[in-house]
Amino acid sequence: MNTNVFSNTSAPVIIELKNIVKTYYFISHEIHALQGIDLKIRVGDFIAIAGSSGSGKSTLLNIISMLDTPTSGEVYCDGEDVCTMTDKVITRFRSKKVGLIFQNYNLIPVLNVLENVAFPLQIQSVKRSECLRKAKDILSQVGLSGHLEHRPAKLSGGQRQRVAIARALITEPEVVIADEPTAALDSKTGMEIIDLMRSLNESARTTFIFSTHDPRITSCVNNVLELMDGKLQYN
Ligand SMILES: Nc1ncnc2c1ncn2[C@@H]1O[C@H](COP(=O)(O)OP(=O)(O)OP(=O)(O)O)[C@@H](O)[C@H]1O
Ligand SMILES: [Mg+2]
Repeated sequence: MNTNVFSNTSAPVIIELKNIVKTYYFISHEIHALQGIDLKIRVGDFIAIAGSSGSGKSTLLNIISMLDTPTSGEVYCDGEDVCTMTDKVITRFRSKKVGLIFQNYNLIPVLNVLENVAFPLQIQSVKRSECLRKAKDILSQVGLSGHLEHRPAKLSGGQRQRVAIARALITEPEVVIADEPTAALDSKTGMEIIDLMRSLNESARTTFIFSTHDPRITSCVNNVLELMDGKLQYN
């Protein structure tokens, strides 16, 4: 089966899922959140996962980002079997390779924009001056040079989302995984965020995989994987 119909099939595979099943056990019944997902994510991919509420988008992204484990099936990152890695190795792997963007931004309210973006590098013990230099650079790429000193509460939803994107990018991850990055935004701002992610994808070849259930967003991207009842739909 073609497990990623939109990919540049000559690019190396970064993450591969084989027959992923995720079942939640809730009181006395089972919820079949993912039912046999096969997917290859390649360097430079720009993939939107679409599907209605409850179709399994967050569950799938949590498994791709190694935040959660499947009930059965295999996950490979750079060809290595994630199921055989210890939690410590997975955490190190993730902090090196993956940038995460959450729906509610998860910014630190007491830090200003510059400090929020510098934070992931600071906890990697990078010199403070270098962290701030890189944070300024990335904030200028996302159009926020004029807001470095502002706290998140002073920003609009679109600006907060840009800060979250900058923070995910500062460690130069190979893959950025974003769960509904546009959900809290109006459609114009949402499309601006998608355009921004795409320009970073084109300029730095960063791989992006994000979920959305907004048809206005899926109609303006090239690569859409449709999830329905925990299964990928192939047209
Ligand atoms: N921790 C959990 N325990 C039990 N069931 C869960 C859990 N997380 C998700 N589910 C169920 O798994 C299914 C898939 O949920 P998931 O959150 O992945 O969907 P989604 O596509 O992200 O939905 P939304 O668009 O609303 O965010 C749903 O039926 C949901 O109720
Ligand atoms: Mg979700």
